[in-house]
Amino acid sequence: MQAIKLADGIHWVGANVHTEDLFEGIWPIPEGVALNAYTVQGDKTAVIELVREWGGAAMTFMKGLKALNIEPEDVDYIILNHLEPDHTGFTYMFRSIAPNATIVTTEKGEALVDGFYGITENVQTVATGDSLDLGQGKVLHFTEIPNVHWPETQVTYEQSSGILFSSDAFGSYGIHKGSIFDDEQPEAIKPYWEDQMLRYYANIVATFSSNVLSAIDKLSGVDIKMIAPSHGLIWRGSPGTVVKKYVRYANYSKELQEPEITIIWGSMYGNTETMLNAIIKGASEYDIPIHVHQVPNEDASFILRDVFKSAGLIIGCPTYEYGMFPPMKYVMELLNEKLMRFKKVGFFGSYGWSGGAKRDFDKISERMKWDIEEPLLFKGYPSNEEITKGEELGRSIAQKVKEIPSKIEGEDY
Ligand code: FEO
Repeated sequence: MQAIKLADGIHWVGANVHTEDLFEGIWPIPEGVALNAYTVQGDKTAVIELVREWGGAAMTFMKGLKALNIEPEDVDYIILNHLEPDHTGFTYMFRSIAPNATIVTTEKGEALVDGFYGITENVQTVATGDSLDLGQGKVLHFTEIPNVHWPETQVTYEQSSGILFSSDAFGSYGIHKGSIFDDEQPEAIKPYWEDQMLRYYANIVATFSSNVLSAIDKLSGVDIKMIAPSHGLIWRGSPGTVVKKYVRYANYSKELQEPEITIIWGSMYGNTETMLNAIIKGASEYDIPIHVHQVPNEDASFILRDVFKSAGLIIGCPTYEYGMFPPMKYVMELLNEKLMRFKKVGFFGSYGWSGGAKRDFDKISERMKWDIEEPLLFKGYPSNEEITKGEELGRSIAQKVKEIPSKIEGEDY
């Protein structure tokens, strides 16, 4: 796909990347990721976002420009809304073949243009309320949305088309499967996008949920006709839908979560696993989704996705060398980092000589604002009485969670 028209004089020139690399060096992207970049042509030509050299993305971007008969030396402005290198990794090389281009970014972004790429010449800083007139009615307006995703982040609004180039905000993992537009997605592909968006949000954006809500509030007076993020779908038919999704996701960081339970468990010799089965049995008596993830077998990226939306969370692991089973400790630290707060929580696990896992659980969970049931700890293999208590623990969490109304509504596109 090269150079797809969004509006007169405005095109997508991004790339879909399939890679075994981890996103940010942490997160698996088995379905790939789209690096969206755009051109806006008036009398002057601007590129909004770049790409990084990743899975052929730089070549695809250049081919996109070529398809529009834009030579690099014809580019007047490179708008860098956000300096993370998934969007800017190509900056040094592109600037060397586009010497006339002024890099436009925020004051904080300017420092990163220097820090990452050693570029200090011909860099223009902009702030909220500033605009850039490209001629022929194409005017770019800038609004800073700090910490969505990094402190320097801004969005760019093109006034003649009403397109908001929203950077990471409203983005998603996943490559485009055919069309780049929301209003051309077959019904069968919509669950794919929901999954990709939610996991992206839980992995990348969740920590900044209060900033997401501030940004949405800040942009509430803008007449947005299309949202063009730097990853994922371009929301042409129903931009309000992705805003609603992001509001829902941001509220998962608060108390507004789904009536679902995520169980994360690890077991060394099957004792904790035996209790897991009792807990699932109890919880399954209620008609709610239960997501079960084993550590370290499953990547934390997918675990975060399910924990993030679930009002119920049950963690089970043994004690290992007087502390928590290490893979679980890593996941728990991530839950803390990503602000997975306000959940109905259960904790269980087997121990041999001492119950050190609980000590670590207490230490991490004291920051989490969790409503925690009485932990269920047992020596070695659980007794019948302890198994009964496990079933009760599952039931108790499920009962509390069941009463919570779902927030997924009114988001058809
Ligand atoms: Fe897609 Fe925060 O960069």
